[in-house]
Amino acid sequence: MAAPKQPVTGAGPFNGVLTWVDTRFPLISLWKEHLAEYYAPKNFNFWYYFGSLALFVLVIQIVTGIFLTMNYKPDAAQAFASVEYIMRDVPGGWLIRYMHSTGASMFFIVVYLHMFRALMYGSYRKPRELLWIIGVLIYLSMMAEAFFGYLLPWGQMSYWGAQVIVNLFSAVPFIGDDLGVWIRGDYVISDATLNRFFALHVIAVPLALLLLVAIHVMALHEVGSSNPDGVEIKKRIDPATGHPVDGIPFHPYYTVKDLFGVAVFLAVSCAIMFFAPAMGGYFLEYNNFIPANPLQTPEHIAPVWYFTPYYSILRAVPPMFNSQFPGVAAMGAAVILLFFMPWLDRAPVKSIRYKGSVFKGWLAAFVVTFLILGYLGTAPTTVWGQFGFDAFFLDTKDIATWAARVGTIVYFLFFLLMPWYSRRDKCKPEPEGITH
Ligand code: HEM
Repeated sequence: MAAPKQPVTGAGPFNGVLTWVDTRFPLISLWKEHLAEYYAPKNFNFWYYFGSLALFVLVIQIVTGIFLTMNYKPDAAQAFASVEYIMRDVPGGWLIRYMHSTGASMFFIVVYLHMFRALMYGSYRKPRELLWIIGVLIYLSMMAEAFFGYLLPWGQMSYWGAQVIVNLFSAVPFIGDDLGVWIRGDYVISDATLNRFFALHVIAVPLALLLLVAIHVMALHEVGSSNPDGVEIKKRIDPATGHPVDGIPFHPYYTVKDLFGVAVFLAVSCAIMFFAPAMGGYFLEYNNFIPANPLQTPEHIAPVWYFTPYYSILRAVPPMFNSQFPGVAAMGAAVILLFFMPWLDRAPVKSIRYKGSVFKGWLAAFVVTFLILGYLGTAPTTVWGQFGFDAFFLDTKDIATWAARVGTIVYFLFFLLMPWYSRRDKCKPEPEGITH
């Protein structure tokens, strides 16, 4: 049986209220378990800002999203005009909209850095495999959320981007055509599609995201945080206090550290929102300031920057038997491979600090490749070569296509060869405890 709860002690005007709540709800024990007495490694560095920042951006997106929904109309005849109305006539509407559009890109920047930290310090390794898998599910949900949201302003890019992406599902053998119609609710992107994407964007996916993030943090607190040295702090407990020798309470140490991160993040976000909300067409594409026109295909269709590495992989793989399915499958596999990271990495140590030059080299190659693929994905199709096996074997004149093909190969080799190179690498021994 649980020990009887003690009244809240210490000076404070709300002690009576706190005691009243705490006898009816585990408020104090939750506070202690997850903040005041959650022992985190004492050597968190710059890379550990991004988990709490991701949480912060998620809240911003939900709050600004609620306010946008108050004036937005999910109707093909009114959607574009309702966004213009928010921008011009709703008091503060422009700010809410720019917070939401900038927030979407910042969300991906923050989460990409968060994932890179995990790759560097081996945060996905035992016992954090499930934490990582939930993370990849969050990443997939974020992609779905961004994709559904992008249709809502009903601009040219919204319309044609959705057309291209939904058509990819039509490339699935046998069921493709039916699948496309099922997703759109029509034979082309239409009002029916807008309505369902709205429902998915404002309620279904955010709900899934919130649930996944809650499970993510619960899983983290079950196993405890890793750190830049990759050592498990739970292994060295101070017998006097019962707490890890290398740990410090999350609150106040890391709450204060994270608040500093939030302040810097807000400064950067404000600079973007107030001075360059479109970010040169990367955060808001210029074509999306033109209302959707089903009769006029834009010359250059490209997804928003956070999808472009995968878009490059899609375009790099030539069609086979007149089907785009190989490219679609490669694009899907590129994301699915992330799930297997905990089992692909066979190095005896977790952190890059103690890994050898081979792993470091592959990780660097992977990051550079991801950035190059990302850039190539934004380049117009006109600089890409023709598709098909002719181009695959013979056409050397087209640098963008070839660069994307080499990039795609490096991307896959990073994962597929990992069991081999991570085991053969010359690692340094991991220290007993945290070093600095
Ligand atoms: C909405 C998105 C996300 C939120 C709010 C979130 C939140 C957090 C928080 C608060 C932490 C603890 C603080 C930190 O280590 O920085 C954390 C840790 C972690 N996250 Fe996420 N996360 C998100 C997405 C992801 C994704 C996409 C992945 C990977 C694919 C991921 C993998 C991890 C891992 C492996 C850890 C443990 C790190 C360690 O202990 O060294 N997270 N996350």
